[in-house]
Amino acid sequence: MPEKSAAAGQGDTVPHGIIENLDGVTDVVLSAMNRTPSPRLREVMAAFVRHLHAFAREVRLTQDEYDLAIDFLNRIGRTTTDAHNEGILFADAVGLSTLVVLMNNGGKGPTETAAALLGPFWRDNSPVTPNGGSILRSPTPGPELFAKCRITDIEGRPIQGVEVDVWQASPAGFYENQDPEQADMNLRGRFHTNEDGWFWFRSVKPAGYPVPTHGPTGELLRAQDRHPYRPAHLHFLGFKPGYKTLITQVFVDDDERLESDVVFGVTKDLIGNYLRHDADETPPAPDVKAPWYTLEYSFEMQAGEAKRPIPPIK
Ligand code: BEZ
Ligand code: FE
Repeated sequence: MPEKSAAAGQGDTVPHGIIENLDGVTDVVLSAMNRTPSPRLREVMAAFVRHLHAFAREVRLTQDEYDLAIDFLNRIGRTTTDAHNEGILFADAVGLSTLVVLMNNGGKGPTETAAALLGPFWRDNSPVTPNGGSILRSPTPGPELFAKCRITDIEGRPIQGVEVDVWQASPAGFYENQDPEQADMNLRGRFHTNEDGWFWFRSVKPAGYPVPTHGPTGELLRAQDRHPYRPAHLHFLGFKPGYKTLITQVFVDDDERLESDVVFGVTKDLIGNYLRHDADETPPAPDVKAPWYTLEYSFEMQAGEAKRPIPPIK
């Protein structure tokens, strides 16, 4: 008999059964878990075990495949650092993040939603920037973009004082934390809506970019013959006590990969109208060179609990 560990709990002598054969495994495991005090943990883990076992039975998982899967999981952990979140990337690449977003927004599934996945690149504490200010903090290529966005409640009334984080990748294809050429917090800023619900800022038109492929998620994409690109987008996170935190993205309408986003983030409502302006129009500021772009977009926030997500990276 193995020695009882000092950490053994009260349940360590309650029998849950001896496994007789393949058919009995799942029930014995479920029985070991059925005294879980938290009802939600009991429900979630029971469903997890049932589905996990059913999956392994369905594909007749081989020992080699099992070993590969464990190694894959372990490498998701090892690849994750303060500056890179492989766990989120993997969940995104298999569509789990979007599934969870759709189940928890937009009337819990039946309608399109103003929300989209957070992704692995949001950083908290980006520089508070006045309306009209630029989120460029080091020289950044690309045509200029003037974005003007409004936040209302679901009755269309403006919400003042929403703290809105904006972030985007450089048109060179990287977020600033991936790229030593960019200043800290380049292409990130925190704005506040005015009394009419508006916030506005200056940036560059986003371009599509590949998600990081140096880890196990990249291996999976290659093995599945999938490209690693996201269509061009801006990210937004709106936070105000009394309102459900809005996490979303607004995609560039002329991007050729809207229908093949590697992480399944695009819904029709989230495709913005990025308008091109040429030299025959008066630029919004004397230093602006043609072509430049404008974006006007309206977000709705529902009454609810304001919760900040756990930052995926530092
Ligand atoms: C992003 O848009 O920042 C992103 C989302 C999912 C995976 C990788 C990047
Ligand atoms: Fe992004």
